Amino acid sequence: MCGIIGIVNISEDVSEKLFKGLKLLEYRGYDSAGMAVINNGNLQIIKDKGKIDEIHEKYDFLTLSGRIGIAHTRWATHGAPDKVNAHPHIDCTGSIAVVHNGIIENFMDLKTELAEQGHKFRSRTDTEVVAHLIEENLKRGMDVEDAFVNAIRRLKGAYALAVISTASPDKIFCARVESPLVLGIREGEVYCSSDIPSLLLFTNKIAPLDNGEYAIISPNNVEIRRISDGSRVRKQFKKIDMGVEEAKKEGYPHYMLKEIFEQPYSIRYALNVQKNYLELMADFIDRSSRLFLVAAGTSYHAGLVGSYIFSKLARITGMPVIASEFVSRYGDSITVDDSILAISQSGETRDVLWAVEQAKMRGATILAIVNVLASTLTRVARIYLHQQSGPEIGVAATKTYTGQLTILYQLAFSLARKRGKLGQDEMDRFIEELNMLPDVIDMILKKCDREILEVANEIKDAKYVIFLGRGVNTGTAYEGRLKLMEISYIPSLAYPAGENKHGPISLIEKDVPVIGLVQDDETKKLMISNLHEVRSRGAKTYVISSSDDEEVREVSDVLIKVPRVSALFTPITYVVPLQLLAYHTSVLRGLDPDKPRNLAKSVTVI
Ligand code: F6R
Repeated sequence: MCGIIGIVNISEDVSEKLFKGLKLLEYRGYDSAGMAVINNGNLQIIKDKGKIDEIHEKYDFLTLSGRIGIAHTRWATHGAPDKVNAHPHIDCTGSIAVVHNGIIENFMDLKTELAEQGHKFRSRTDTEVVAHLIEENLKRGMDVEDAFVNAIRRLKGAYALAVISTASPDKIFCARVESPLVLGIREGEVYCSSDIPSLLLFTNKIAPLDNGEYAIISPNNVEIRRISDGSRVRKQFKKIDMGVEEAKKEGYPHYMLKEIFEQPYSIRYALNVQKNYLELMADFIDRSSRLFLVAAGTSYHAGLVGSYIFSKLARITGMPVIASEFVSRYGDSITVDDSILAISQSGETRDVLWAVEQAKMRGATILAIVNVLASTLTRVARIYLHQQSGPEIGVAATKTYTGQLTILYQLAFSLARKRGKLGQDEMDRFIEELNMLPDVIDMILKKCDREILEVANEIKDAKYVIFLGRGVNTGTAYEGRLKLMEISYIPSLAYPAGENKHGPISLIEKDVPVIGLVQDDETKKLMISNLHEVRSRGAKTYVISSSDDEEVREVSDVLIKVPRVSALFTPITYVVPLQLLAYHTSVLRGLDPDKPRNLAKSVTVI
């Protein structure tokens, strides 16, 4: 998964803009980066491994001068993250440059064929075949457009591509299959990029390229066609009302912290979900015989919490399934009577899209909760709900998780109402409480940040950390563990606390930190007894709870008390201290929580 950007201008150099846009795309990958421009008929390239700033410091991207250029920030899939494998990739003659996000599945076959024709490959990437395919087509007498289209028609897999060639020095050729690509325009300048925010620096007139389309962009013209038959596509460029400032850190040391503190706002936005679509989605779920909540990583945890809420409020069984497992586990048994509720912040997670595509082929109804508008999932879904959390730059999901939960609660209420499973008074009380959550989160952030910093100081050198939850907070325990593990690299475990004595309790020894989540519902007594079990074996317990009664205090070495809400809503209130814990631990260990190693924001590979 990578970020790509291309700019063509009528008279000015584009390297500075490419650099700025690329910086905004860095969340999509940051193990190597590069830029290519055409200057006086020659291709000039800077690329290397490392973060964009490191490469810039070493070579200075702004020394590239040219009115047309493409750039790339990479998260390696094929070939190690090194200079040779960094994009842009070029053909044998050094006159065609390509940047790519996605995976070309048949690249080995194409590479063999091209090598037999005499093409020399420099890298181990799947992308390089595109440059050589175009070169081969040019050799056979095609013009650049035909050479490009003919080449991409031979590709299997997923790609967003941008290509420049000295044979057509004022045009960028770009195309999209699966991986996202948007176009932007302003007077005398045209852009393509993997996302909208990177273009908002320059323009707010945006049009997404749809799946299976290619575009030829020049300083005053955009021509869009279908890859399959070359037919012309007319597209409107719409004004996007979103500032680039939204995507900046606003004084916080890291995006992750900024995003944690944005949650009172992002939850409020999620509460503004379009009610007609919410009702429509609830209708589909209500009519279906089975409901699967399909997602990956943090979004899967939201689905897991969602399954408890749906059952408790609406008496609906929703099966949470890890997206990458969905096809082998349920693929063959899916029918037209089933509904898939796909939950994906990016709307681009390949595992999720794969599950959804397979289910769709079997006639299931596809529903979705997404944060990124115009993402692939929004196009595949029959109905999607936009959680409106705003751009999330930190690789670790925080505000988008609580946003997803907020949507799931509203969906559960709507289902409960339809199915007559909640009395009006109870419903009104719950809805009122849900609407109060932004203020409650605000209080938690103000109260807990320092307390959690102290806990982070205590656990930062731990060999491992254990998270225990029960009931609605089983998913919260998993989420707390994922957050801590992914950004602090401390191995961590999470499981429903009832599993303790079925194995994991053997890990408990003196001073092992155990984070316990205690909510005031049918699980409280059992959870307290699980905490006694680990404490009596030497564990140090850090308990997050809205109760501070004797029972809870007795099992807590450290008690993080959060404001009281109904147990049903504690997955939102309890996860916030866990996000802060992960953040502070990461920083105390001298790490960059925004850019955990080996991870990227949106995982567009299987
Ligand atoms: C963890 C994290 C990932 C994502 C997962 C799914 O902090 O962010 O686990 O939740 O890659 O991503 P989306 O929601 O974009 O499908």
